[in-house]
Amino acid sequence: MAKQLWNKGFEPDKSIEEFTVGQDRELDLRLARYDVLGSMAHITMLEKIGLLTQDELDILLPALEEILESVDNGEFVIEDGVEDVHSQVEFLLTARLGDVGKKIHSGRSRNDQVLVDLKLFFRDELRRIAEAVERLFNCLQSLSEEHKDKLMPGYTHLQVAMPSSFGLWFGAYAESLTDDMQMVLAAYNIANQNPLGSAAGYGSSFPLDREMTTELLGFANPHYNVVAAQMSRGKTERAVASAIAAVASTLGHLAMDVCQWMCNNFAFISFPDELTTGSSIMPHKKNPDVFEIMRGKCNRLQALPNELTVLTANLPLGYNRDLQLMKDIVFPATTELIECLDMAVYMLGNIRVKDNILDDPRYDYIFTVEDVNRLVLEGMPFRDAYREVGMAVQEKRYKPTREVKHTHLGSIGNLANDKIARKMEGLMKEIEKN
Ligand code: ARG
Repeated sequence: MAKQLWNKGFEPDKSIEEFTVGQDRELDLRLARYDVLGSMAHITMLEKIGLLTQDELDILLPALEEILESVDNGEFVIEDGVEDVHSQVEFLLTARLGDVGKKIHSGRSRNDQVLVDLKLFFRDELRRIAEAVERLFNCLQSLSEEHKDKLMPGYTHLQVAMPSSFGLWFGAYAESLTDDMQMVLAAYNIANQNPLGSAAGYGSSFPLDREMTTELLGFANPHYNVVAAQMSRGKTERAVASAIAAVASTLGHLAMDVCQWMCNNFAFISFPDELTTGSSIMPHKKNPDVFEIMRGKCNRLQALPNELTVLTANLPLGYNRDLQLMKDIVFPATTELIECLDMAVYMLGNIRVKDNILDDPRYDYIFTVEDVNRLVLEGMPFRDAYREVGMAVQEKRYKPTREVKHTHLGSIGNLANDKIARKMEGLMKEIEKN
């Protein structure tokens, strides 16, 4: 027996069904909770505008509650032959309650149903991402404070350049995450708008109370124009993907640095043996596979906005089934990003930082600018001081004074970590308040 909501008495071809349903039966499970919440808000509103009686609502709401419980305790499944989560919920209601179950779809389409589900889902996922970013941020900030006096070489062109420090290095990634958090917040605000009531994409002749469902679902505002509401499918995903890509770019960069500083030729940092991996042939190896996998995953995540752009470029206005495929791309990505962030926190919690790295004579030239500046402070014009130190280097008679005194805002001696923490706090508050 065919189980499509749109069944009109003929049995659809099995292979067509499988091809079009794709991964939905599995992916839609992540939307189930939101689908039920969307339906609860919708029918509460239907009662208010007279399309359901109070008695009907009193039967429907507890049945939806029950489905919500089955979702939360992992019992909810999308049965074979059922197209998606929206169909499954309606079938369950109808099977349990008979005709009254068939009433919940008035003034609604799966097109706005899936949109509501997605917006609620993305809101929660972005919040989880924000929390994971904050965990890494806190970890980096405390490492920055802990190791603020440990100097390391700074490089430009991969050539030894100027003194840097572990305080600067850890702290840099913390502050960089605040920029990414701006992207997370922007995506959150885009997702936090109610598309319910746009129905198939052009609204309904029922007097739907869209302000009411907006309030019931806790959205910041309705997506007013029904066509704009439907256009937000794709737009929201692209915003989410940009946020994910931004965080991934920072984390991928950090993972690369870790691999480099772990390299035996640098050996600035190390990890306990049990957090490294080995080689099947070279008995001495302690490899940074964790950070390589992290770098690879983060690089792959940065392809997300591009994948979505290509998938959705030049689609005709209104719903098109292509949009379904975005779930295949974005859903696993939110999980993967959070796993990478948490793994970074776990690993960095065990990092060991080498002391006195700059005592090695190979880093002597790192102090040339310090010495130029010392001469300038003694009254010599900068260009003359530069030439004096430059000639000493050229003629191999340069001897570093090894004194590092950086005091301005954001430098080795004045990391401004407290100010950076305020930035992050402000952004987290914005996300939490909505
Ligand atoms: N699985 C579909 C999706 O994700 C649900 C909406 C189906 N709408 C339709 N008109 N076929 O887009």
